[in-house]
Amino acid sequence: MPGSSRPYIIGAFILGVILTGAWSNRPSKSRERKRQAERLAELEINGDIKEGIEGCIGRTPLIKIKSLSDATGCEILAKAEFLNGAGNSPKDRVAISIIELAEEQGLLIPHSGDTVYEGTVGSTGISLAAICRARGYKAHICMPDDVAIEKSDLLLKLGAEVERVRPAPIVDQKQFVNLARTRAVEHTADPEKKGRGLFADQFETDANWRAHFTGTGPEIFNQTAGYLDAFVAGAGTGGTISGVALYLKQRLPYLRVVLADPPGSGLYNRVKYGVMFDSKEREGTRRRHQVDTVVEGIGINRQTRNFEVGRALIDDAIRVNDDQAKAMARWLVEHDGIFVGSSSAVNCVAATKLANSLGPGHRIVTILCDSGARHLSKFWANTEPVGGAEDDVDLDDILNA
Ligand SMILES: Cc1ncc(COP(=O)(O)O)c(C=O)c1O
Repeated sequence: MPGSSRPYIIGAFILGVILTGAWSNRPSKSRERKRQAERLAELEINGDIKEGIEGCIGRTPLIKIKSLSDATGCEILAKAEFLNGAGNSPKDRVAISIIELAEEQGLLIPHSGDTVYEGTVGSTGISLAAICRARGYKAHICMPDDVAIEKSDLLLKLGAEVERVRPAPIVDQKQFVNLARTRAVEHTADPEKKGRGLFADQFETDANWRAHFTGTGPEIFNQTAGYLDAFVAGAGTGGTISGVALYLKQRLPYLRVVLADPPGSGLYNRVKYGVMFDSKEREGTRRRHQVDTVVEGIGINRQTRNFEVGRALIDDAIRVNDDQAKAMARWLVEHDGIFVGSSSAVNCVAATKLANSLGPGHRIVTILCDSGARHLSKFWANTEPVGGAEDDVDLDDILNA
């Protein structure tokens, strides 16, 4: 070997060694996947990938409301149902149950033009509209025209058809629930329209309370290890309170189930005295609105299957007025940073009243239904400004407002 080429050969040899090392050290795809799996296992998040938006429904956290717990000496826990991932309310559970049942029965076929019709004050419609998009259906929502405008705006952004109609009693065929049923029938009968119409029927369908019987109820039982003294909730269709009561009372017969009811609703008297009556309903004093309150989503003046199925298990009812609800909504932001809508505020007033009457040492579970963002133009428009002044709202004043 000529002496002049020796440095090149040595150089090439060293380069070869370096490249071979680098090649054998490069992360192969399978080794990289293995490491990734090990890292996920270490973090205990393996398998925590949700199957679409429907996978984000249920298993909501149970939050201790610290301010109310400290003030009452009871543990006041709230199921954060606004964290359901599709429509951000407990109605996600109901909407997916209704849709999956209809699919099983062959009543809905994806991408065929099939359309789900519902009469709702908003939450159920928003859940249905989101899940319909994910499953290849259309949604058509009928709602009263006095409901907060952000709810119908949101429905439109989800691509739903929205009909806002004059509030009317249930005997009126133009009442929003009756109208939704009629529209579904009209769709199916119309040869010009693709697919069929399905009336979701949240007030009467067993899929509603069953969603809470198989979901919300067992979750509360597991999250509290069965240690709870009372469950408090308002009722719109009644699906939540009935489904949860039916599940929990089988296991905890001593549990107190208490209805939180807004002004103008007949459910308070239905629970207390067995009759559906509210003084605002007296002959000659009937108001234009079915339930005369700024609170949306709870309170009703007719018997529904979903309320009646669990009614016998409801031990008591607490009336909550609009001023109490508005002051509580503000209190929850001031003290806990929790920004919720009107029915959640009603639930928290009732839970606090119940805590005071039971005395310290009890554990009470209630529901936070939806975010205050759904109520900016109506319920929240009428509350006092939140100023961070923690001592300017007194809890006793709220309960006695
Ligand atoms: C915001 C909100 N909270 C509570 C409820 C009451 O739930 P349920 O219909 O299960 O009684 C509803 C019902 O529509 C609602 O929209």
